[in-house]
Amino acid sequence: MNKLVVEGGVPLSGEITVQGAKNAVLPILAASIMSGESCVIHNCPWLRDVEKTGIILERLGCNLKRGTGEIYVDASDINKCRIDERLMREMRSSIIFLGAILSVCGRAEVGLPGGCPIGLRPVDLHLKALRQMGVLIEEQHGYLRCECGRLKGANIHLDFPSVGATENVMLAAVKAEGTTIITNAAREPEITDLARFLNKMGAKVNGAGSSMIVIDGVEKLHGTEYSVMPDRIVAQTYMIGALMTGGELLLNGVECAHMQAGLSALTEMGGRIKCEKNKAYIKSTGHINSVHIIKTMPYPGFPTDAQSPFMALAAIADGTSVFVENIFENRFRHVDELVRMGADIKVEGRSAVVRGVKKLYGANVEAYELRGGAALILAAMAADGRTEISGIEFIDRGYENIEGNLSRCGVRIRRIRV
Ligand code: UD1
Repeated sequence: MNKLVVEGGVPLSGEITVQGAKNAVLPILAASIMSGESCVIHNCPWLRDVEKTGIILERLGCNLKRGTGEIYVDASDINKCRIDERLMREMRSSIIFLGAILSVCGRAEVGLPGGCPIGLRPVDLHLKALRQMGVLIEEQHGYLRCECGRLKGANIHLDFPSVGATENVMLAAVKAEGTTIITNAAREPEITDLARFLNKMGAKVNGAGSSMIVIDGVEKLHGTEYSVMPDRIVAQTYMIGALMTGGELLLNGVECAHMQAGLSALTEMGGRIKCEKNKAYIKSTGHINSVHIIKTMPYPGFPTDAQSPFMALAAIADGTSVFVENIFENRFRHVDELVRMGADIKVEGRSAVVRGVKKLYGANVEAYELRGGAALILAAMAADGRTEISGIEFIDRGYENIEGNLSRCGVRIRRIRV
């Protein structure tokens, strides 16, 4: 078991090149099996979830090769249409394989997915949509057994703009018979990235990034090369770190347009920010203001994934901030850990009231999920004294070499084996 040890009180100052987005690369890797040929995915972050996705791809019959920053997927020999329950439980995004496998095999057998423990994460929207596309689905002993022959295009209205369900339907639809129209589709930039990748493989996906996506089914896809979009949540995590520690940071390889909600909150909280093209710069003014209210919403609203990192920032702001978590019902597990470090936070249902304190103090804390774990690193960087963070396997799911990036910018952080 590894831990991260942080000695707080040093400004995060320097330059970081932001990794490729976890939430974009995972569905892209799942989609690559539909090429029937080889794909090269550039800007692929090396993460625990990417490693697990690689294992799923190999079990399905793909050949994988990893270069520096890229991954090669040869999908010319897919010979299995099943993902076992243990692998599916490792991460939530494994459910995206369902649409891809159905498209390749006309049937699929997959365990029900797992992921970070942030509340119930049902797949009813995915299944309802796939049934509309002609898939017969039986749920038995933790497995979904699905049969469809060739998928059929359909008009699909999502009751909620779920990221995962939108992606699953897109994958199922690209080689389906006829046209699929998704209304109330998720508009996250990762959806647009997936659509670009699919189109590079020969698909006909239009409207991604808006709430109506139209997919004209094609007979065949082909291999391609693609470079994954930058990770907007990782970028915001580092920017918050600079603000919390009184530092100054230049981020390379970002997409500012994807981060408007977060950048506006950072500005309100006292960050001096410049963003142009693929660079973002933040400098602390030495003062952190509270934020009036942060409500998580589907994109372009404030991302649920940035809620906990911003809460760490609000914990040392001047004044009171209110957070409302609208996407997941159990996404405040970092609160007790921040309180151990001296934060003053009260949770009531889906809301948290954060009264800024002058100082946080180092403590032994535990990460219970990916972004909550990142919030603890941020708090530790700004705290007095030494913090030991356990549960860092959650952080490794989504942050590539976080201790390397931070320590190059002056932060005293190291990984220890215990
Ligand atoms: C994706 C991201 C995750 C991010 C989340 C919100 C990936 C791998 N994961 O998760 O990191 O935190 O978007 O931006 O990209 N819901 C249902 N039924 C369903 C599907 C979803 O009720 O069939 C509900 C969920 O319980 C949740 C909400 O819809 O309350 C949002 O879920 P969704 O957008 O699907 O998030 P994920 O795709 O799981």
